[in-house]
Amino acid sequence: MKVFVTRKIPDAGLERLEKEHEIEVFPHDKVPTKEEIIKGLKCKDGLLCLLTDPIDREVIFSESKLKMIANYAVGYENIDIKAATERGIPVSNTPGVLTDATAEMGWSLLFSVARRIVEADRFTRAGKFKGWGPMLMLGQDVTNKTLGLIGAGRIGTAFALKSKGFKMKALYVDTKNNEKLEQELGAEKVTLSELLKKSDFVSIHVPLLPSTHHLISEKELKMMKENAILINTSRGPVVDEKILIKALKEKWIFGAGLDVYEHEPEIAEELKRLDNVVLQPHSASATIHSRTNMAIMAAENMLTGLKGEIPPNCVNPEVFNNK
Ligand code: GLV
Ligand code: GLV
Repeated sequence: MKVFVTRKIPDAGLERLEKEHEIEVFPHDKVPTKEEIIKGLKCKDGLLCLLTDPIDREVIFSESKLKMIANYAVGYENIDIKAATERGIPVSNTPGVLTDATAEMGWSLLFSVARRIVEADRFTRAGKFKGWGPMLMLGQDVTNKTLGLIGAGRIGTAFALKSKGFKMKALYVDTKNNEKLEQELGAEKVTLSELLKKSDFVSIHVPLLPSTHHLISEKELKMMKENAILINTSRGPVVDEKILIKALKEKWIFGAGLDVYEHEPEIAEELKRLDNVVLQPHSASATIHSRTNMAIMAAENMLTGLKGEIPPNCVNPEVFNNK
């Protein structure tokens, strides 16, 4: 069979696919347009795509041979799952293999903002360091502080468990109880308002859904402490970015660490001018180990799906109900 891969991914995944199928990889190192995806998908049985690819109804219905979609990401809001299910096409994602890498990026951002690492690096390189100063680059402590998790799934849980060495108190908001966090950290499930009012660090780990869009907006940012830091390694549109910029400018909170943006890859100019925010190019899962394992996982999902069997990480298993 034939598989279209929308961007070069680590060889470990491509080699697995090539053993059993013919593959065509989009030849440019850029995000393909929808037209380019439709063109590449012509006469293909499988689509291995990225979170930057808009796999909407039109794309899904464009190729009658299409039987399997493997997303190279854990999040899959880029794919119209309803349309895929309607056509009987299974869709898979890559959960688990990027959990620790993403949690580690959360901590990297947390420390970078708390201790003003990026701002201080710029300051030092600019030759402004003229000697030790009692008031120079004062930041926030992490030890013994309160960590607030918005979303306590796989990544949120891994992120919070890493706080043990810093003796932090943990609060979380989720639709479900998280026994592991309650047992291991004494974490407390609270309401969003309580979490925002009490936490020194608020870290977001929810998927992008209609119910999480702009979950953090003016009312929420105003509830946060003045010394608080907001970390987002989930999806940009969960935070109302315009209001966040205002909050950072007017110092409603101490700072923010962002890996994702509301209008990715565009980033508001005002955000780039602020010192109390650290910006990453949606690279939380970007470790060699994690990206290699994502490639292998996406390939394994594709291989199983093309056999007509349920892929190990299928997000719409109902497709198989009538098969
Ligand atoms: C990255 O953002 C992913 O969803 O894998
Ligand atoms: C700081 O460098 C100190 O010695 O207190």
